[in-house]
Parts: sequence; C-alpha cells; structure tokens
Amino acid sequence: MPRFAIVGHKAVTTPDFSLNDMPGAAGRMDVLCRCVNASFFLSHDLRRDTECYLILKGGDIPKTLSFSGDTIRSLNPDERSAGALIKKGLTTAAEPEFKKAADGIAIRSSGLAELLADFSFAVLDENGEDIRDAETLPENYILSDHMNFTEEEEALLADLPRYSVGPRVLHADHTITVILNEFDRRQKQ
Ligand SMILES: C[S@@+](CC[C@H](N)C(=O)[O-])C[C@H]1O[C@@H](n2cnc3c(N)ncnc32)[C@H](O)[C@@H]1O
Repeated sequence: MPRFAIVGHKAVTTPDFSLNDMPGAAGRMDVLCRCVNASFFLSHDLRRDTECYLILKGGDIPKTLSFSGDTIRSLNPDERSAGALIKKGLTTAAEPEFKKAADGIAIRSSGLAELLADFSFAVLDENGEDIRDAETLPENYILSDHMNFTEEEEALLADLPRYSVGPRVLHADHTITVILNEFDRRQKQ
C-alpha cells in the first residue's frame, strides 16, 4: 500500500484555524490539503489502498494525523474539504497512540521520529536516485512541505534511501501524483 508522510513545518496543531486563511495563519495548511487530495483522488473515485500522514509541527508539540483511503468519508476534491477534515481530526485530543477522530482519520501526539519507527520510509528528494530506475518501488515516502527539511529532520532521515521523480523541484502534491502514476504504470504491466 502506498503511504505518504508530509512534514508541515508551520502547520497549526489546533482546530481553530480558518478555512479562509489556510495559506496564512494556518501555516501553509493548504499545501497539506493538496497532499491529502493528491494521495487519494482519481477522477470520480478514490484510491482506497493509499494512506497519507500529516506531521503538523506548528504547535507546542507535534501532532500526526493519519488518513486512510479505505475508510475515509466526506472528502471532496477541493482544499476546503480536506481542511475541514483536518479541523475535525484536530478536535480530538491527541495521545501518544493513534486514536480515531473520524472515519478514516486518526491522530496522535508525536511527530517524525515516531512515524519513522513505524514504517520503513524512502525520502522524496530531487537529488535522489531516479524512481524509474528502482527495481521495486518503496511503499512508503516522506516529503517536506514548502520548506526544506530542518537539520534535525535531515539527521533522522540520513540513512534512508532517496528517490527523485525528475530533475525539477516540484510541489509536494505533484510529486505524490507522479509516484502514484509510477505505481499505476507498474501494476498495469
Ligand atoms: C516544494 S518542495 C520543498 C522545498 C524545496 N526543497 C525548495 O527548494 O524550496 C516539496 C517536496 O516535494 C518533494 N519533491 C519536489 N521535487 C521533487 C523531485 N523532483 N523528486 C523527488 N521529490 C521531490 C520533496 O520531498 C520536497 O521536499
């Protein structure tokens, strides 16, 4: 199952943000909304076999929201819809273990280090190995939002394999689309 985790460096960890100002006061939550949509949306359908994790770092302690394609409900292909589900997720009190916040959405009070302990991730990085040359596609991918990974994050990611989807730096959501396209093409063969 393809899994994407996106680090939201400034993304708020409380539900009191406005859907009208996700790029501003919510800490570029719009970028994360687009990543949720890119992880799941096909034309008139959802990818049921995909998971998306948002690591929100704009609060006192990081929080991680998980979205699961097989059980998510009420997700429409606009940013406000994903933003509304993020708000809903954040209304549930986060604890160290994942707790269901809504259908297909869970939350916990931890960040990147803990997620790296759960799954074997590859880092998506324009300077990595070309994903087209990968004999087997990794299942799980880490991306950054609009910012570079911090030094502390880079230290956590240092030993992980790195893959590129091409020579140009793309937006995170577009990178997810290219990776899922690679899954689609290989499944068709
Ligand atoms: C907008 S970029 C991050 C900011 C970027 N490092 C910069 O120069 O400002 C968002 C994320 O998408 C992924 N990404 C962008 N282009 C990529 C590429 N060509 N190959 C693999 N991953 C890419 C990386 O994970 C990156 O952190």
